[in-house]
Amino acid sequence: MNSILIKNGLLVLEDQVLKSDLLIVGETISQIASSITEDADTIIDAQGKIVLPGGIDAHTHMDLPAGNFSASDSFETGSRAALWGGTTTLIDFANQKKGSTLREAFDQWQNLAKEKSFCDYGFHVSVTDVNEKTLQEIPEMFKEGVTSFKTFMAYPAMKISESDLEKVMRLVKELGGIVTLHAEIGQMIEEKTAKLLSEGQKTPAAHPLSHPEEAEIVAVRHFIALVEKTGCSGYVVHTSCPQSVEEAKGKGHLPLWYETCPQYLERDERLYQGPFETSAKAVMSPPLRPIGFQEKLWEDLLQKKIHVVATDHCPFTIEQKRRGQENFTLIPNGGPGVEDRVELLYNGAVSKRKMSLTDFSKINATNAAKLFGLYPKKGVLKVGSDADITILDPNSKWKRSASTHHMNCDYNLYEGLEGQGKCETVLLRGELAIHQGKFLLQKPQGRYLKREKPFTKL
Ligand code: URP
Ligand code: ZN
Ligand code: ZN
Repeated sequence: MNSILIKNGLLVLEDQVLKSDLLIVGETISQIASSITEDADTIIDAQGKIVLPGGIDAHTHMDLPAGNFSASDSFETGSRAALWGGTTTLIDFANQKKGSTLREAFDQWQNLAKEKSFCDYGFHVSVTDVNEKTLQEIPEMFKEGVTSFKTFMAYPAMKISESDLEKVMRLVKELGGIVTLHAEIGQMIEEKTAKLLSEGQKTPAAHPLSHPEEAEIVAVRHFIALVEKTGCSGYVVHTSCPQSVEEAKGKGHLPLWYETCPQYLERDERLYQGPFETSAKAVMSPPLRPIGFQEKLWEDLLQKKIHVVATDHCPFTIEQKRRGQENFTLIPNGGPGVEDRVELLYNGAVSKRKMSLTDFSKINATNAAKLFGLYPKKGVLKVGSDADITILDPNSKWKRSASTHHMNCDYNLYEGLEGQGKCETVLLRGELAIHQGKFLLQKPQGRYLKREKPFTKL
């Protein structure tokens, strides 16, 4: 079996940081010790470098259908970009169509990812049509290794009622899974949108006005009440407002978790000003928020009130965004980020705000692994775990740019942003994927991950 020895690195283990060696044999970590003298096929000198569990991006939308086109990153291009950015596992979304089944959604996304993904991958299934058949299928999805289900309180094609959400949560609680929520109250968005359009406000500047903060905060409030009522684990995806996190105050006993995304930490609503070509890039839901929210979200991360940073990677090219040139509601929602996440997070959390490396590793990988049934196979440097490893040089500087990124998108949301901490070497199950500036995997070899029951505590 192939073996790789990583020497002298600063290893970020679950609860300590250790200057140590790490030996990989085949696909797994076989030894962690202060000085490993065994022979190995490859030796990597990690002196001065930080050795992390491979990043887990628990929220991506590769190939997402959007009318007569799809998100510009396929599983192939998006997972390749993920590896360049230090992420080795993706959890994407298989979206049920109303009138169709969970099985059809699951099969559709399996076909999109199979033999295309370079990263290992799993799926949350989005439940958009709650009926007897759908409820029967949820346990079936569990057998397929889907233990998390996304729900929406907004958008005609996705939205379910709160009484249906409660039904789903009761069932998922029984099975030991987790329900995630796109937290926006649809009616509030619909009312604001109708008013803006009637006033002739049709440019991207109207997008944040049509998605008020209140729509997110109230949705989170309702969700917390349902978590309390049903006992089901609840996870709020792409949190954009610190007030949504505040809603959990005094509710520390609940199995309630928050995710935010780099765009809500590093970008703000000023991006909606200016010409269509620049402002349309930031059209995503929830929208970017006022200046000041970002620093509060960073504080929440430092205080462990937010548990996971994922990307909601859902890129569309400027040309695709032009569908809404005359009407902002037709702009495909979403932006790129899968390649940027780990480095942005390291720079923002560790370099700038002095988060410990162990806490950084938790929001980057371990917490998502635990909440989505992948731990300890993924998300941790442990003997027996998959050798998914990212070696980061803390002193190496970067500048975000569409001209150098690997995502299939003609803009980078963070264009020109500078920082430090570069993912230099990335291993997927013991195989070098990125090393010395090269992408080394010959073909997509990502495996579907049948996930276990989530942890209910972190
Ligand atoms: O604008 C976004 N977030 N698009 C992706 C779909 C979603 O709701 O997460
Ligand atoms: Zn969403
Ligand atoms: Zn999303």
